[in-house]
Amino acid sequence: MSHYEKPAELYAGLRLHQNENTGGCSPRVLAALAAMRADQVGYYPPYAAASEACARHFGVDPDRLMLINGLDEGIMAISMMLLRQTPGAPAPEAIVPEPAFEIFGYDTNVAGGRCVRVMPARDFQFPLDDVLAAVTPATRVVFLTNPNNPTGVSMSLDAVRTIARRVPAGAVVLVDEAYAEFAVTTFIPDLPAFPNVVVGRTFSKAYGLAGLRIGCLIGSPDALDRIRPAVPVYSVNIAAVVAVEAALQDPDHVTAYLREVAESKRLLYAACDRLDLKYWRSDANFVLVAVGDRVKSFIAGAEARGIYLRDRSCEPGCEGCLRITTGLVRHTQQCIQVLEEVLCGAA
Ligand SMILES: Cc1ncc(COP(=O)(O)O)c(C=O)c1O
Repeated sequence: MSHYEKPAELYAGLRLHQNENTGGCSPRVLAALAAMRADQVGYYPPYAAASEACARHFGVDPDRLMLINGLDEGIMAISMMLLRQTPGAPAPEAIVPEPAFEIFGYDTNVAGGRCVRVMPARDFQFPLDDVLAAVTPATRVVFLTNPNNPTGVSMSLDAVRTIARRVPAGAVVLVDEAYAEFAVTTFIPDLPAFPNVVVGRTFSKAYGLAGLRIGCLIGSPDALDRIRPAVPVYSVNIAAVVAVEAALQDPDHVTAYLREVAESKRLLYAACDRLDLKYWRSDANFVLVAVGDRVKSFIAGAEARGIYLRDRSCEPGCEGCLRITTGLVRHTQQCIQVLEEVLCGAA
């Protein structure tokens, strides 16, 4: 079992704790999977067509894109290639602006690097000056997420440019755009001017392919070549290859889901206003909500009613906070009803 899972969570109940797509993938993906042939499964997977489809989708040349087994694999590969310690040398450093996706710190530790955490600024505005002050000659990676998880707050592309200009030669700035479809902005058009920046994308969120594990890294061929040795040759399986091509042929499915997410956030903000709960406006498919010191009982109360929420109260700047996935409107309505019940019960 991974560090994400609890046994009871598997598929029972409404999963609003991992920012997944609560509506699932396009029916075209299911049809493509059902139409797979035995020989496709029997052979190692070919990647050219799927890579080209993804490159076309993101508007880049295929040599600037590398398929990966979910963005998690890309983050681990970057860590293993850039943050490994060489005997006698100071530990390579990764800068992580907090609160952050916990895997950045986890993978930095696995690789043997030193995680330099930058504390949050007021209302989670991006702490650019503090990030720049954290840059040292030992900086090898800066992990940025736009929009950020767990806050949903975006950073400016200008801040990314400034950081990319300041890091030492050989360092890589990762812009993790796991939630970019919900936010619209992306650093991808800037990449040709910033060969030390790599953008990470995933098909787990807006496209609903989390169970199949597929994403990509986009950047200069040189930057990708430095990361590639830590990505197993056939790490993306044939079902994910087939699925991503089908998913990209159904943009309406994504557009409809983005509409649901926008409406879900509007409903959740209104509910928080009614219930007098602080929240942060999110550019992603989740909302961080502050419920104070009742956070554990809140989450337990929701879980008892079949809804899983994510406790983020131990993350820097997130004291008393939980994170709620905002997917299909009907799921958000269910969640709001439970929040109201739990809150009234706790009052
Ligand atoms: C910021 C961020 N990056 C990466 C991932 C992992 O994406 P994938 O499912 O493609 O491994 C997540 C998943 O929650 C995430 O929140």
